[in-house]
Amino acid sequence: MIEAAAAAADHIIVVFVPESSRAQANITSMLAPQANRVMVLGEWEERWQENRIGFHQPVVHKMLESNIDKVLAGRTGVRFFFPLCGKAVDMKWLADQGHSVVGVEISEMAVKQFFEENNMTYSEEPVPAIPGAKVFKSSEKNISLYQCDLYNFSSSIGGQFGAIWDRGSLVAINPKDREKYAALIISLMAKDCRYLLDTLLYNPELYPGPPFFVPDAQVQSLFGKSCDIELLQSVDALTDRHRGWGLDFLTENVHLITPKSV
Ligand SMILES: C[S@@+](CC[C@H](N)C(=O)[O-])C[C@H]1O[C@@H](n2cnc3c(N)ncnc32)[C@H](O)[C@@H]1O
Ligand SMILES: *[C@@H]1O[C@H](CO)[C@@H](O)[C@H](O)[C@H]1NC(C)=O
Ligand SMILES: *[C@@H]1O[C@H](CO)[C@@H](O)[C@H](O)[C@H]1NC(C)=O
Ligand SMILES: *[C@@H]1O[C@H](CO)[C@@H](O)[C@H](O)[C@H]1NC(C)=O
Ligand SMILES: *[C@@H]1O[C@H](CO)[C@@H](O)[C@H](O)[C@H]1NC(C)=O
Repeated sequence: MIEAAAAAADHIIVVFVPESSRAQANITSMLAPQANRVMVLGEWEERWQENRIGFHQPVVHKMLESNIDKVLAGRTGVRFFFPLCGKAVDMKWLADQGHSVVGVEISEMAVKQFFEENNMTYSEEPVPAIPGAKVFKSSEKNISLYQCDLYNFSSSIGGQFGAIWDRGSLVAINPKDREKYAALIISLMAKDCRYLLDTLLYNPELYPGPPFFVPDAQVQSLFGKSCDIELLQSVDALTDRHRGWGLDFLTENVHLITPKSV
């Protein structure tokens, strides 16, 4: 594609800009309003302490429920990873169906509330590889929740996963950390991993986030090199809560991401 041509007195300079860097430049401009937003870990802990957890849903997430067959693809006893798990009831729903769940969450309060609200007893032990971290394990179900910074978790600690449910996670991390986040997620994917990713589209000029705006073009640039990406669902998700944030549209997209077979 010819991006710019400049004519001088006796010669012409033609600049070829590859399609991928044009796309990257456009993503950068779309993301500009939120690019420098940072939530420090202490702010998330404060939200839990003050019960400002409007993201938590008391019932299984519709997008997980409606796409579960595509995630399982006929498999039983799948190991699920929940990055930034909060106290999502989806974890219990999957464990009740015989799957195992590993979550990572910085707030100990969130982890304890998960077990307590679901009437599960749990054990608590340190994680030698991560100073200060703890792992909480359900005594009844195959659910292990690591209380630590996500970026301290790795496949050497948790192994690899057959499925990942990413809701309120890629959209919640600081926008400048997305490449680091994607690299970690890719390293946690087993060859047969089916990664269900929930993203939100809205005008980032109108609301600072979180949740942050993640355009499909960025999902492509983060995961497209090593994975196939299929947009499974795209729904209008605007509610009065979001109108209260000043938004005029909100679209929820669900992607199925799978490692390219080599
Ligand atoms: C928007 S909430 C979503 C929780 C859950 N996925 C859900 O859908 O209900 C994001 C969660 O990530 C946690 N969190 C944020 N940054 C984190 C980090 N770097 N490492 C671990 N947990 C983090 C917060 O405490 C919060 O509970
Ligand atoms: C750039 O992004 C805008 C949205 O901000 C979109 O409407 C437009 O089609 C994109 N242009 C290109 C060349 O990808
Ligand atoms: C939990 O699941 C893992 C594999 O995901 C398995 O190795 C382990 O035996 C299971 N533990 C229990 C108590 O079922
Ligand atoms: C946990 O137990 C309480 C008290 O018996 C009950 O009201 C509640 O419904 C239970 N919660 C779940 C998720 O089973
Ligand atoms: C945990 O993550 C933080 C931030 O990414 C990093 O500074 C620290 O070195 C990590 N600690 C361990 C034990 O991996």
